[in-house]
Amino acid sequence: MLRMPFSSKVVAGAPASFETPLLAVALSRGPLPASLKPLDQAVGGALERLLASGDFTGKRDDVAVLYPAGKTQRLVLIGLGKPEEVNRAALRRGAGSAAKRARTLGVARGAFFLPPEVRGTISPRDAGQVIAEGLAQGAWNYVELKQPAEDKKPPLEHFDILAPTEQAEVEAGHAIGEAIAAGHVFARGLQVLPPNVCTPTYLGERALELASRYGFAVTVMDRAAIEREGMGALLAVAQGSAQEPRFIVLDYQGAPGAPVVLVGKGVTFDTGGISIKPAANMEEMKFDMSGAAAVLGTFEMLGRLKPKVHVVGLVPSAENMPSGTAFRPGDVVKSLSGKHIEIVNTDAEGRLLLCDALAYAKRYQPACALDIATLTGAIVVALGHSATGVMGTDDALIQEVRAAGDRAGERAWQLPLWDDYRELNKSDIGDVKNSGGRIAGSISAGWFLREFVDGFPWAHLDIAGTAYTERDSPDSAKGPTGAGVRLFSEFVLGRAK
Ligand code: BES
Ligand code: MN
Ligand code: ZN
Repeated sequence: MLRMPFSSKVVAGAPASFETPLLAVALSRGPLPASLKPLDQAVGGALERLLASGDFTGKRDDVAVLYPAGKTQRLVLIGLGKPEEVNRAALRRGAGSAAKRARTLGVARGAFFLPPEVRGTISPRDAGQVIAEGLAQGAWNYVELKQPAEDKKPPLEHFDILAPTEQAEVEAGHAIGEAIAAGHVFARGLQVLPPNVCTPTYLGERALELASRYGFAVTVMDRAAIEREGMGALLAVAQGSAQEPRFIVLDYQGAPGAPVVLVGKGVTFDTGGISIKPAANMEEMKFDMSGAAAVLGTFEMLGRLKPKVHVVGLVPSAENMPSGTAFRPGDVVKSLSGKHIEIVNTDAEGRLLLCDALAYAKRYQPACALDIATLTGAIVVALGHSATGVMGTDDALIQEVRAAGDRAGERAWQLPLWDDYRELNKSDIGDVKNSGGRIAGSISAGWFLREFVDGFPWAHLDIAGTAYTERDSPDSAKGPTGAGVRLFSEFVLGRAK
């Protein structure tokens, strides 16, 4: 079933007079803001009565739904938290909750209002951006593979963002937020696809589509081309699968000079290979291409915004299967860098794709390279689902990544790559082995990648704990999270001239 994509738009309307099936109003803790007095009057004092009742205090994730007489059929109050807690992340989350509630109530259109008193230190521009991001996130759900139910509620199509003042500023931010949201939706849409649909070949096709829509330079290498390049590590992972591997190169040259290179792990399904994974929850390993989705989603944003920055995207993609042709523990493979890798665990396959891509990146003499991957279960043990792990060779770059993450509402937390850990990957027969064993699993994976980084600042993002969720949250559906798109967007926009 084809659906209209969700959209939002900044309009000049005032909350008291705007006619809509659903008006969402964001509030922080405290008394009713003066700017809401006309709305309160229009709904017969219901807002003051609600606050006096104590049923709604404005604390984070507080929601109240009223059905007043007046221009709006439903009035949804959304709590952002204490006034001093109202920041970009809180507002994005509030907008997400508004859209998600509208979607589950089954309204096709809604409106969102942030009283200026509640905005606190957020600039009108930032407000426009993060409201656009949050609304699109809350609106997202995936029903493409379900029969439409007879009593099905209409999908949420649109939100108007009321900006009675500073409309131009809000609109400027909104344009940025809409582009980032489009990238985010693009990434989630790829992540959610079943692994029999989203194959390496499919990812290559979507990259070609992006390139022709936005005019990027693109190369999609097939197995023969990957062989000619000498990417023996990527090929080793691919050799057990009937699915052909791909190596995708996207080049957006918005400015001259050395590029930011983004590398995304594109394992379209990870069974573990001969070192096979347990059956429980193995279906989640369709999300093992989430790094690839983050990179491609970032290019959707770049194509829409056209910022003055040079960005190259590299996506090595394969399926990791056990079979009679699969690579095995004990094999030694020659990577693009020339280093020989002893395979000790075929389930440590992501680093094998990434190491060839990082070696390939060298030819661009990058300003920096960032890789992103659902790389280790160990990062979930270390950080849970609340932060992406970040490691690298350059502390200034890591701080830049973390700051971009904070702006994006994607927390990143650094793990050390001290020399002590290097020996975990020492091989008896080759230059390095592909697993350092149980201890410090995320760090030894990071160190493995570092062995293939030569001549540019580099940071690695492990999103195994943040790329998907098993639970609904107030502002987002369960499943794919689009992790990395907003962080990368803030990062590259921060580098744009
Ligand atoms: N794709 C997995 C990592 C993963 C785990 C992603 C959980 C999402 C959720 C990766 O390829 C993997 O299997 N890593 C192994 C490495 C080990 C064999 C050294 C792991 O984490 O167990
Ligand atoms: Mn694996
Ligand atoms: Zn994997």
